Amino acid sequence: MSGNIITIDGPSGAGKSTIARLVALRLGLRYLDTGAMYRALTLHCMRAAVHLDNPKEIADCIKDVKLSVKLKHEGPMLVFLEEEDVTDKIRTQEVTRNIHYVADVMEVRNFLVDMQRKIGEAGNLVTEGRDQGTLVFPNASLKIYMFATPEVRARRRHTELMQRGAETSYEEVLEDVSKRDYLDMGRELGGLKKALDAVELDTSELSPEQVAESIVKLAKSRLKMQTRKIDKNALEAARRQAEAQKDDSGEK
Ligand code: C5P
Repeated sequence: MSGNIITIDGPSGAGKSTIARLVALRLGLRYLDTGAMYRALTLHCMRAAVHLDNPKEIADCIKDVKLSVKLKHEGPMLVFLEEEDVTDKIRTQEVTRNIHYVADVMEVRNFLVDMQRKIGEAGNLVTEGRDQGTLVFPNASLKIYMFATPEVRARRRHTELMQRGAETSYEEVLEDVSKRDYLDMGRELGGLKKALDAVELDTSELSPEQVAESIVKLAKSRLKMQTRKIDKNALEAARRQAEAQKDDSGEK
Protein backbone atom coordinates (compact mmCIF):
# COMPACT_ATOMS: atom_id res chain seq x y z
CA MET A 1 0.00 0.00 0.00
CA SER A 2 1.43 3.35 -1.00
CA GLY A 3 0.19 6.60 0.50
CA ASN A 4 -2.16 6.98 3.40
CA ILE A 5 -5.59 5.44 3.76
CA ILE A 6 -8.00 6.89 6.32
CA THR A 7 -11.08 4.80 7.07
CA ILE A 8 -14.27 6.26 8.49
CA ASP A 9 -16.90 3.79 9.66
CA GLY A 10 -20.09 4.25 11.62
CA PRO A 11 -23.87 3.99 11.55
CA SER A 12 -26.04 5.87 9.07
CA GLY A 13 -26.77 9.42 10.09
CA ALA A 14 -23.54 9.91 12.06
CA GLY A 15 -22.38 12.43 9.45
CA LYS A 16 -19.69 10.27 7.81
CA SER A 17 -20.20 11.45 4.28
CA THR A 18 -20.02 15.20 4.89
CA ILE A 19 -17.08 14.76 7.23
CA ALA A 20 -15.19 12.39 4.91
CA ARG A 21 -15.52 14.91 2.08
CA LEU A 22 -14.25 17.76 4.19
CA VAL A 23 -11.28 15.65 5.31
CA ALA A 24 -10.52 14.62 1.71
CA LEU A 25 -10.61 18.23 0.62
CA ARG A 26 -8.33 19.46 3.42
CA LEU A 27 -5.79 16.66 3.04
CA GLY A 28 -5.90 16.40 -0.76
CA LEU A 29 -7.02 12.76 -0.66
CA ARG A 30 -9.43 10.89 -2.92
CA TYR A 31 -12.85 10.19 -1.43
CA LEU A 32 -14.45 6.74 -1.65
CA ASP A 33 -18.13 6.38 -0.76
CA THR A 34 -18.61 2.63 -0.40
CA GLY A 35 -22.33 2.99 0.44
CA ALA A 36 -22.78 4.34 -3.10
CA MET A 37 -21.37 1.09 -4.49
CA TYR A 38 -23.92 -0.98 -2.54
CA ARG A 39 -26.61 1.43 -3.70
CA ALA A 40 -25.58 1.01 -7.36
CA LEU A 41 -25.74 -2.79 -7.19
CA THR A 42 -29.14 -2.50 -5.50
CA LEU A 43 -30.39 -0.30 -8.34
CA HIS A 44 -28.97 -2.79 -10.86
CA CYS A 45 -30.85 -5.70 -9.19
CA MET A 46 -34.07 -3.68 -8.96
CA ARG A 47 -33.89 -2.82 -12.65
CA ALA A 48 -33.35 -6.50 -13.49
CA ALA A 49 -36.48 -7.27 -11.43
CA VAL A 50 -34.77 -9.99 -9.42
CA HIS A 51 -36.55 -11.32 -6.35
CA LEU A 52 -34.68 -9.39 -3.69
CA ASP A 53 -35.40 -11.99 -1.05
CA ASN A 54 -33.51 -14.57 -3.11
CA PRO A 55 -29.72 -14.23 -2.54
CA LYS A 56 -28.92 -16.63 -5.40
CA GLU A 57 -30.80 -14.43 -7.89
CA ILE A 58 -28.93 -11.38 -6.59
CA ALA A 59 -25.58 -13.19 -6.87
CA ASP A 60 -26.37 -14.20 -10.48
CA CYS A 61 -27.52 -10.71 -11.34
CA ILE A 62 -24.30 -8.99 -10.25
CA LYS A 63 -21.96 -11.58 -11.80
CA ASP A 64 -21.31 -9.62 -14.98
CA VAL A 65 -22.25 -6.15 -13.82
CA LYS A 66 -20.12 -3.31 -15.18
CA LEU A 67 -19.82 -1.06 -12.16
CA SER A 68 -17.25 1.72 -12.10
CA VAL A 69 -16.56 4.74 -9.95
CA LYS A 70 -14.70 7.99 -10.48
CA LEU A 71 -13.02 9.36 -7.37
CA LYS A 72 -12.22 12.97 -6.67
CA HIS A 73 -11.18 14.98 -3.68
CA GLU A 74 -13.71 17.65 -4.53
CA GLY A 75 -17.39 16.97 -5.04
CA PRO A 76 -19.17 13.64 -5.06
CA MET A 77 -17.75 10.33 -6.20
CA LEU A 78 -19.36 9.46 -9.53
CA VAL A 79 -20.92 6.01 -10.00
CA PHE A 80 -21.55 4.29 -13.34
CA LEU A 81 -23.47 1.19 -14.38
CA GLU A 82 -22.15 0.36 -17.84
CA GLU A 83 -21.72 3.86 -19.30
CA GLU A 84 -24.67 5.33 -17.44
CA ASP A 85 -23.98 7.86 -14.69
CA VAL A 86 -26.23 6.71 -11.81
CA THR A 87 -24.76 9.02 -9.13
CA ASP A 88 -28.13 10.68 -8.49
CA LYS A 89 -30.36 7.73 -9.35
CA ILE A 90 -29.05 5.67 -6.44
CA ARG A 91 -30.36 8.25 -3.94
CA THR A 92 -34.00 7.26 -3.88
CA GLN A 93 -36.00 6.02 -0.93
CA GLU A 94 -36.73 2.82 -2.80
CA VAL A 95 -33.04 2.02 -3.23
CA THR A 96 -32.37 2.85 0.43
CA ARG A 97 -35.18 0.56 1.53
CA ASN A 98 -33.87 -2.37 -0.54
CA ILE A 99 -30.12 -2.11 0.07
CA HIS A 100 -30.01 -4.54 2.96
CA TYR A 101 -31.13 -7.43 0.75
CA VAL A 102 -28.22 -6.84 -1.58
CA ALA A 103 -25.62 -5.87 1.05
CA ASP A 104 -26.26 -9.14 2.92
CA VAL A 105 -25.27 -11.31 -0.05
CA MET A 106 -21.78 -12.79 0.27
CA GLU A 107 -21.00 -12.57 -3.48
CA VAL A 108 -21.93 -8.87 -3.46
CA ARG A 109 -19.64 -8.17 -0.52
CA ASN A 110 -16.74 -10.13 -2.01
CA PHE A 111 -17.14 -8.33 -5.32
CA LEU A 112 -17.19 -4.86 -3.71
CA VAL A 113 -14.46 -5.57 -1.16
CA ASP A 114 -12.16 -6.63 -4.06
CA MET A 115 -13.04 -3.51 -5.99
CA GLN A 116 -12.45 -1.29 -2.94
CA ARG A 117 -9.06 -2.88 -2.24
CA LYS A 118 -8.00 -2.33 -5.86
CA ILE A 119 -8.94 1.34 -5.54
CA GLY A 120 -6.97 1.45 -2.28
CA GLU A 121 -3.79 0.17 -3.92
CA ALA A 122 -2.94 3.69 -5.06
CA GLY A 123 -3.37 4.98 -1.47
CA ASN A 124 -4.18 8.66 -0.76
CA LEU A 125 -7.72 7.79 0.15
CA VAL A 126 -10.44 8.63 2.65
CA THR A 127 -12.92 5.80 2.56
CA GLU A 128 -16.28 5.76 4.26
CA GLY A 129 -18.60 2.84 5.10
CA ARG A 130 -19.29 0.16 7.69
CA ASP A 131 -16.43 -2.33 7.25
CA GLN A 132 -13.57 -0.25 5.94
CA GLY A 133 -11.34 -0.35 9.02
CA THR A 134 -12.26 -3.89 10.06
CA LEU A 135 -12.40 -5.91 6.86
CA VAL A 136 -11.42 -3.98 3.77
CA PHE A 137 -8.36 -2.05 4.97
CA PRO A 138 -7.19 -3.65 8.23
CA ASN A 139 -3.78 -1.96 7.73
CA ALA A 140 -5.15 1.56 7.15
CA SER A 141 -2.96 4.38 8.45
CA LEU A 142 -5.73 5.94 10.51
CA LYS A 143 -9.10 4.47 11.44
CA ILE A 144 -12.05 6.46 12.72
CA TYR A 145 -15.24 5.04 14.19
CA MET A 146 -17.88 7.73 14.25
CA PHE A 147 -21.10 7.55 16.17
CA ALA A 148 -23.96 9.53 17.65
CA THR A 149 -26.87 8.24 19.70
CA PRO A 150 -29.87 6.95 17.72
CA GLU A 151 -31.91 9.79 19.25
CA VAL A 152 -29.49 12.46 18.01
CA ARG A 153 -29.33 10.91 14.54
CA ALA A 154 -33.12 10.60 14.40
CA ARG A 155 -33.54 14.20 15.52
CA ARG A 156 -31.13 15.44 12.81
CA ARG A 157 -32.90 13.40 10.14
CA HIS A 158 -36.32 14.47 11.33
CA THR A 159 -35.29 18.14 11.09
CA GLU A 160 -34.01 17.56 7.53
CA LEU A 161 -37.26 15.85 6.60
CA MET A 162 -39.36 18.68 7.97
CA GLN A 163 -37.27 21.15 5.96
CA ARG A 164 -38.03 19.09 2.85
CA GLY A 165 -41.72 19.27 3.64
CA ALA A 166 -42.12 15.57 4.46
CA GLU A 167 -44.75 14.54 6.96
CA THR A 168 -43.31 12.08 9.39
CA SER A 169 -43.03 11.94 13.13
CA TYR A 170 -39.83 11.86 15.16
CA GLU A 171 -40.90 8.45 16.52
CA GLU A 172 -41.18 7.00 13.01
CA VAL A 173 -37.75 8.32 12.10
CA LEU A 174 -36.25 6.92 15.30
CA GLU A 175 -37.75 3.52 14.53
CA ASP A 176 -36.26 3.66 11.04
CA VAL A 177 -32.81 4.60 12.37
CA SER A 178 -32.92 1.76 14.91
CA LYS A 179 -34.00 -0.75 12.25
CA ARG A 180 -31.13 0.29 9.99
CA ASP A 181 -28.63 -0.03 12.87
CA TYR A 182 -29.95 -3.49 13.63
CA LEU A 183 -29.55 -4.61 10.00
CA ASP A 184 -26.09 -3.04 9.62
CA MET A 185 -24.75 -4.40 12.90
CA GLY A 186 -26.20 -7.88 12.52
CA ARG A 187 -24.64 -8.53 9.10
CA GLU A 188 -22.47 -11.62 9.28
CA LEU A 189 -19.78 -10.46 6.86
CA GLY A 190 -18.90 -6.77 6.87
CA GLY A 191 -21.27 -5.89 9.69
CA LEU A 192 -20.82 -2.52 11.35
CA LYS A 193 -18.35 -2.65 14.21
CA LYS A 194 -15.47 -0.64 15.54
CA ALA A 195 -11.99 -1.84 14.62
CA LEU A 196 -9.94 -2.43 17.78
CA ASP A 197 -7.43 0.22 16.74
CA ALA A 198 -9.99 2.81 15.58
CA VAL A 199 -10.29 6.23 17.19
CA GLU A 200 -13.85 6.73 18.45
CA LEU A 201 -15.50 10.06 17.74
CA ASP A 202 -18.86 10.98 19.18
CA THR A 203 -20.44 13.43 16.74
CA SER A 204 -23.57 14.06 18.83
CA GLU A 205 -22.62 17.53 19.98
CA LEU A 206 -20.27 18.57 17.19
CA SER A 207 -20.66 20.16 13.77
CA PRO A 208 -19.28 18.31 10.71
CA GLU A 209 -16.55 20.97 10.46
CA GLN A 210 -15.46 20.34 14.06
CA VAL A 211 -15.30 16.57 13.56
CA ALA A 212 -13.44 16.95 10.25
CA GLU A 213 -10.95 19.26 11.95
CA SER A 214 -10.22 16.71 14.69
CA ILE A 215 -9.55 14.03 12.06
CA VAL A 216 -7.30 16.41 10.14
CA LYS A 217 -5.39 17.10 13.37
CA LEU A 218 -4.94 13.37 13.97
CA ALA A 219 -3.68 12.92 10.40
CA LYS A 220 -1.19 15.76 10.88
CA SER A 221 0.13 14.54 14.21
CA ARG A 222 0.11 10.78 13.62
CA LEU A 223 0.77 10.60 9.90
CA LYS A 224 2.67 13.86 9.45
CA MET A 225 0.28 14.80 6.69
CA GLN A 226 0.11 18.32 5.31
CA THR A 227 -3.12 20.26 4.93
CA ARG A 228 -4.04 22.23 1.85
CA LYS A 229 -5.29 25.77 2.06
CA ILE A 230 -8.96 25.61 1.06
CA ASP A 231 -11.06 28.71 0.85
CA LYS A 232 -14.23 28.83 2.90
CA ASN A 233 -16.48 28.72 -0.16
CA ALA A 234 -15.05 25.38 -1.35
CA LEU A 235 -15.59 23.85 2.10
CA GLU A 236 -19.12 25.19 2.23
CA ALA A 237 -19.79 23.85 -1.29
CA ALA A 238 -18.54 20.37 -0.28
CA ARG A 239 -20.78 20.41 2.78
CA ARG A 240 -23.80 21.52 0.74
CA GLN A 241 -23.20 18.90 -1.96
CA ALA A 242 -23.07 16.15 0.65
CA GLU A 243 -26.36 17.35 2.12
CA ALA A 244 -27.98 17.52 -1.32
CA GLN A 245 -27.00 13.92 -2.00
CA LYS A 246 -29.19 12.56 0.75
CA ASP A 247 -32.23 10.87 -0.68
CA ASP A 248 -35.76 12.19 -0.36
CA SER A 249 -36.16 10.34 2.92
CA GLY A 250 -33.20 12.33 4.25
CA GLU A 251 -31.06 9.16 4.13
CA LYS A 252 -27.59 8.84 2.86
O1 C5P B 1 -23.45 4.88 3.49
P1 C5P B 1 -24.86 4.63 2.99
O2 C5P B 1 -25.91 4.97 4.02
O3 C5P B 1 -25.11 5.20 1.64
O4 C5P B 1 -24.93 3.06 2.83
C1 C5P B 1 -26.09 2.43 2.43
C2 C5P B 1 -26.14 1.01 2.94
O5 C5P B 1 -25.15 0.22 2.28
C3 C5P B 1 -25.88 0.81 4.44
O6 C5P B 1 -27.02 0.96 5.23
C4 C5P B 1 -25.37 -0.63 4.47
O7 C5P B 1 -26.46 -1.52 4.48
C5 C5P B 1 -24.65 -0.78 3.14
N1 C5P B 1 -23.20 -0.65 3.27
C6 C5P B 1 -22.49 -1.76 3.63
N2 C5P B 1 -21.12 -1.69 3.70
C7 C5P B 1 -20.48 -0.54 3.44
C8 C5P B 1 -21.21 0.62 3.08
C9 C5P B 1 -22.59 0.53 3.02
O8 C5P B 1 -23.06 -2.81 3.88
N3 C5P B 1 -19.16 -0.52 3.47
